Amino acid sequence: MTTKIIMDTDPGIDDAAALTMAINDPNIDLKLVTAVAGNVTVDKTTANALKIIHFFGKSDQIPVAAGAEQPLIKPFEDAARIHGESGMPGYDFGDDYGEPIKKTAVEALHDAIMAEDEITLVPTGSYTNIALLFSEYPEVKSHIKQIVAMGGSLSGGNMTSSAEFNVFTDPDAAKIMYNAGIPIVTVGLDITLKALLTADTIEKLGQMNEAGKMLHGLITHYNDGSNAGRPMHDVNTIFYLLHPDKIKTKEMWVDVQTDGPAIGALVGDIRGAYHDGKTNAKVCVDIDADYFNKWFLDEVSKIKM
Ligand code: BDR
Ligand code: CA
Repeated sequence: MTTKIIMDTDPGIDDAAALTMAINDPNIDLKLVTAVAGNVTVDKTTANALKIIHFFGKSDQIPVAAGAEQPLIKPFEDAARIHGESGMPGYDFGDDYGEPIKKTAVEALHDAIMAEDEITLVPTGSYTNIALLFSEYPEVKSHIKQIVAMGGSLSGGNMTSSAEFNVFTDPDAAKIMYNAGIPIVTVGLDITLKALLTADTIEKLGQMNEAGKMLHGLITHYNDGSNAGRPMHDVNTIFYLLHPDKIKTKEMWVDVQTDGPAIGALVGDIRGAYHDGKTNAKVCVDIDADYFNKWFLDEVSKIKM
């Protein structure tokens, strides 16, 4: 059975890799892509989503809508130092990659969600579009089966000592999303920094089909990670949907810090000290990193182009 999903994204190199998997895996049915400001400005993240979809020849099947230009309250700060000025350096996608649809991301999300009885939302950028959607159209909530969101960490941040980039970018939106009453799978740094793409995996991509060459180009221009390997943060969301048995999760209540020195941190109630034993999230805490590398190569090698 295929899983119907919508991706809300800020490509971004790892977002581009996540889109690649979602577009090409036959068990995923990607209905819509919405873009948000994050790694780079929203005009660039929208263009980058269009480029990936066009690259795989799916422009007539997967619409792209442009979303929020900035977070709800906090001033916008990009991550071009990690993803380059364009957000997707290292491959020439050409200039002819189509246009976003005329609807805003919020309108497009509303229409696509209401058209389904059940759909999974996969945010891989900050959650601004999702928060705006829930504020404007709360009726969508009952049509969302789950949210599988890249972001956060229970074990230290990549922006501050406790905050991860997607939550740090718009903590107020993250708070709205976590309090929406929808089951959330938290795909955070706790696993994405374990499932590093090894140098060997990256080298093999460069010797594969055009999809592998494209990803190799992007990943070799990616300023995240070290000699130990490169984190493909956002790809872990799609991996979770396809191989939940390869990821260990813990149910808990997750709160979001929206001010102070821990702004943008997720606070997981690991000991169940608050919230009367209730939980609002399944937090991913461990992953089979070897299997992730193997799967990544398999997925790309199967792409016919
Ligand atoms: C997250 O931040 C972004 O830079 C990546 O695309 C990913 O979504 C990792 O912290
Ligand atoms: Ca991202």
